[in-house]
Amino acid sequence: MLKSVLITALALLGPACAQESETFTNPILYEDFPDNDISLGPDGAFYYSASNFHYSPAAPILRSYDLVDWEFVGHSIPRQNFGDGYNLPPTGERAYRGGTWASTLRYRESTGLWYWIGCVNFYHTWVYTAPNPEGPWTNAGNYGNGVCFYDNGLLIDDDDTMYIVYSFNDGKQVNVTQLAPDGLSTVRTEKVIEPGQVSVDSIEGNRMYKFNGFYYILNDHPGSTAYVWKSESPWGPYEGKPLADNVQSPLPGGGAPHQGSLIETPQGDWYFMSFTWAFPSGRLPVLAPIEWQDDGFPTLVTDATTGAWGTSYPLPLPRKPLNHSWASTNYPFTTLTTLPPTFEWNHNPDTDSFTLTPDVGLVLSTATANETDDLYSARNTLTHRVHGEFPTATLELDVGGMADGDRAGLAAFRDRSAYIGAHRTGDELQVVARFNMTLDEWGGPTLDLGEVVETVPLGAFGEVGTRLWFRLSMDVRPDGAHEAGFEYSVDGEAFVAVGGKYELYTGWAFFLGYRFGIFNYATKALGGSVTAVSFATGSK
Ligand SMILES: *[C@@H]1O[C@H](CO)[C@@H](O)[C@H](O)[C@H]1NC(C)=O
Ligand SMILES: *[C@@H]1O[C@H](CO)[C@@H](O)[C@H](O)[C@H]1NC(C)=O
Ligand SMILES: *[C@@H]1O[C@H](CO)[C@@H](O)[C@H](O)[C@H]1NC(C)=O
Ligand SMILES: *[C@@H]1O[C@H](CO)[C@@H](O)[C@H](O)[C@H]1NC(C)=O
Repeated sequence: MLKSVLITALALLGPACAQESETFTNPILYEDFPDNDISLGPDGAFYYSASNFHYSPAAPILRSYDLVDWEFVGHSIPRQNFGDGYNLPPTGERAYRGGTWASTLRYRESTGLWYWIGCVNFYHTWVYTAPNPEGPWTNAGNYGNGVCFYDNGLLIDDDDTMYIVYSFNDGKQVNVTQLAPDGLSTVRTEKVIEPGQVSVDSIEGNRMYKFNGFYYILNDHPGSTAYVWKSESPWGPYEGKPLADNVQSPLPGGGAPHQGSLIETPQGDWYFMSFTWAFPSGRLPVLAPIEWQDDGFPTLVTDATTGAWGTSYPLPLPRKPLNHSWASTNYPFTTLTTLPPTFEWNHNPDTDSFTLTPDVGLVLSTATANETDDLYSARNTLTHRVHGEFPTATLELDVGGMADGDRAGLAAFRDRSAYIGAHRTGDELQVVARFNMTLDEWGGPTLDLGEVVETVPLGAFGEVGTRLWFRLSMDVRPDGAHEAGFEYSVDGEAFVAVGGKYELYTGWAFFLGYRFGIFNYATKALGGSVTAVSFATGSK
């Protein structure tokens, strides 16, 4: 109650009095980190596990000491060894929309280990463990063929018993399973929420907590409503109430927050971190306080005037800024010895086909065994999430090693993509804008190889310079222009627009938003390469 009064007071005082340093703004991060599971680690930091589907490494981890300032720590899954599809085979099924989603991450004191648990391919629920969030992460096993703990959450009880909560039967029921003491097999399973207990067709995004001696399950009806369920026993019976029911997004044009996690601060204050659907950008984390009521259920603190999820609230904890630059980062590949975790490959990379060497840079050799003109089948596309409302990136590329038929450049990458790149065609070097490469948004076949919308002939390969700069600028606001523009430069200073505006796609079915994609592939024969010299991201 006190908090609501405070928020109203801040709202009335307005920006002149409410110092920016005392409040935070939603979204917490204008970046695509869906399906968060956030919990406190033994070092007093909060750890945030997210979904990244077919990207590799997988299951990204962020860290924060104040729930507002985050840094990128690493990944729970070093490589997606979940089938050939994850290696982008030249023929056969690819792993788009597979991989990691709606999984869980917890620290267990008795073993000193972190546990990541998630269902992959609807067929195995894998356990990965590590002594530290930074790793090394290792595959500890699974619960048997055909066992999918769909959208699961792990609770480690006060007595060290591990429980997993998950949806079953297309989200029409929720099960709780008690794990064996080593966490690697199951000892008891009960159905705890049945069809009819909720008046919606499916329930997902399960999390389990213990507070004041009660067991709580947090879950949601996709797209609209978060529920909290309460019981004296992990096995039920559970009584449920909505926590957030079609609450308006803090982001203009964003979707109602529903899925996420509950977080208790060391001071005993509680928060709900959810996400707002915001394509073309992705699913962006939003934070709000919750307050426990006399009936043992929490309520969401909304904007006192509008009833919406607040665009700002008082800080949960004193700020502890971290040395992580989200809005703009310069990656000089010529001085890096490893790729920072902010980079993820589209599917598992062919590690024999790239090198990162000081003074040289990131050499990308063409890697696809069966030469392709399908960006979605080309191996070793290196991606980076876009940040903010108006993301930009500039790639400096040396194309001197390109072979005839090679294509390399910078893409606006998701299930509908566009790029600006260098084509070597015979002995001619060209800058090309190519739009509308289209993948079936449910992860199926490539539907369209795209269309060249403009070609700029640069001259004879070997006679013209080989250093090119490509720039991509986007408006990814859900209520914005949904546009991308492409430019190139031959000196890194004067940039020329190519191809006009590309309309960014806003469909949700692919589950992930646009990324920057650095690509290089062969359409004729392997053997060529390009060198990424530097890559800089920005955000207006
Ligand atoms: C969930 O519980 C039901 C009912 O007890 C059971 O039939 C089903 O096998 C369980 N599902 C999993 C994945 O354990
Ligand atoms: C912050 O990170 C940059 C880039 O990694 C590094 O050069 C710098 O020394 C770091 N600063 C601090 C205070 O850790
Ligand atoms: C190339 O594709 C053909 C058929 O499409 C397949 O038989 C062959 O194994 C592929 N080659 C490689 C190296 O993957
Ligand atoms: C993009 O490709 C899709 C799939 O082939 C097609 O339906 C659509 O008309 C194309 N859009 C443009 C602008 O060419």
